[in-house]
Formats: sequence, structure tokens, C-alpha cells
Amino acid sequence: MSKPHLICFETYDDWDRVPLSEQYEVHQFPASSNPLDLSEHVRNSVRAFAFKGHAQLGADIMDTFPNLGLIANYGVGFDTIDVKHASNKGIAVTNTPDVLTDDVADLAIGMLLALSRDITGASAWVRSGQWASSGAYPLQRTISGKTIGIVGLGRIGYAVATRLQCFNAHIQYFARTEKDTPGWIFQNDLIQMARVSDILMVAVSGGPDTTGIVSADVIQALGPDGVLVNSARGTTIDEDALITALENGDIRGAALDVFYNEPNIDPRFLALENVLLQPHQSSGTVETRQRMGELQRQNLKAFFAGLPLVTPVN
Ligand code: 8YV
Repeated sequence: MSKPHLICFETYDDWDRVPLSEQYEVHQFPASSNPLDLSEHVRNSVRAFAFKGHAQLGADIMDTFPNLGLIANYGVGFDTIDVKHASNKGIAVTNTPDVLTDDVADLAIGMLLALSRDITGASAWVRSGQWASSGAYPLQRTISGKTIGIVGLGRIGYAVATRLQCFNAHIQYFARTEKDTPGWIFQNDLIQMARVSDILMVAVSGGPDTTGIVSADVIQALGPDGVLVNSARGTTIDEDALITALENGDIRGAALDVFYNEPNIDPRFLALENVLLQPHQSSGTVETRQRMGELQRQNLKAFFAGLPLVTPVN
């Protein structure tokens, strides 16, 4: 029997590529390519996408594949996929929740510590010989016992807050509704939460509902001693306002894993000393990426077997 045709977006590691090509007739589709470059036969044969990365996946691409039935996303966030259009066309969308939560939360804590204690700057101080020549490193800032506001208390926000309990943090959270939490304070006004927080950790999903949610007013409310950590999506922050605030010292610092126009980030970030920059690598461990690939394949398998999808989005 011939193998089902599958479009793979972006490159996959061997542990994903090999099982995918064993099960499917894989057609590689780089982000910049035009679906019309594929033959009509292939376009008609494709029933599923193994989607990866953060390029826009809208009606223009979906509509080029008349028999498309599934977009299996490699990632928990699906903000670049036009899910509404997919639903209207009867195309199912799946994602990879849970399997990446721990790593994403771990890196958020790591970024907060690295920024607050300037771990990278201190390491450079030792390597350059300045410890011996100039003495002790400039004093940094405590995170234990601080008031920390979590923007979005979904799976990842919850995991971040749970880890922060070990730092005796006073945890506040901004969410659509109040949750059953162990003593964490619900805030329905993000500006107010920023005002009372020393640190804001952004863990909300991307997409139109949250675009610019961390506005200029929220950043100003955080204040000159405040710190912002973003491991959600670049779109959640008014990036121009953030850069201006960092340049003017209106907040103390930011640790960012995500950006508005990644990987071509705003060059003004590179000139700032009060930012810690990461290349969107929160889920980037061998263990988690293997689990994400596995879950993506489980969804593909269920779809082609006509079984319920494992982690449906729509
Ligand atoms: C990416 C992510 O999926 O899960 C998400 O939403 O942003 C990441 O895990 C991953 O970088 C692959 O593009």
C-alpha cells in the first residue's frame, strides 16, 4: 500500500525525520516556498501537515491543498496558524501541550536568576581576569521573597508559579478568571498587578487576544526597579515601549526568549546591557523535543487511522 503524503514544514531532527519518512511520503516545505511549486498531484494527495516553526500558516497555503484534513503542530502555541479558517474548512489542528511545560518553566526561572544575578556578566568577569585585576563583581539583586506577577495562569504559568514558591515569592496572577490556587492572589487588572509586582513573568498564549497585553502602561507601572521575563510570544509585549523603557531606565531589566520579529530581532536590543536575550529556546532540550515529535506523530497516526486526535485544538 502506498504511504500517505505529508508536508513537513521546517527541518526535523533525525529522531523525527526517520519515523516520519518511514510512515509517510514526506514533502519538505521550507518557510519561504510557494505551495504552487509542488505538483498538482502532490497538492491533491496531501492530507496532513507536520507543521513546525513560527511562519504564518493561513488560508493561502491551506487552500492550495484541497484534501488537507489535519495540521499537526509541533509546539503548544498555534498563534501563527489561522485556526478559524482551518475550522471553517473542516481541517483539524493539533498541538503538543504538557510535554514541554517543565522545560519552558525551568528556563523562565533560569532567565530570571541569570538576569537578577547577572550570571553571564559575572562569568565574563572571571574569564577576562577582571576578578583578579579589579576585585569583586558589582552587587546584584535578590529574587527570593519578591512579589512576582504571572501574566497568564495556564499550564506554563502554573508551572512557573509553582517553581517560584520555592523562592518564597508572593505570587499574583493575571488571568481571565480566578483559579483554585494555593494562596496566590488573583488580579483582573494587569496594570494594577504590575504596580504591586517586583517582577512580571509573561506566560500567556500568543494570538490576537493577547497582542500588546503588556502595554506601555503596564511597563511603566512595573517601575524603575521592575523586571520583566517573557517566555510566551514576542507579540504579547509592546516591544517599542519596552525598548524605550529599557533605554530610559524606566524598568530595571528584561529577560526575553521571544521577540516580535524573531529571529531578526530589533537591533536596539543588542545595544542594551539590561537585557538577557535567548533565541526562543524554552522547549529546546533533546528530551522535550523528542516528546514533542512523538506527540505530533501520535496525532498524525490517529488522524490517518480515523481515531480521536490526542491533543486537538479545534
Ligand atoms: C516551538 C514554541 O514550537 O511550543 C511552542 O509554542 O514556541 C516552541 O516550543 C519550537 O521552538 C519549534 O518551533
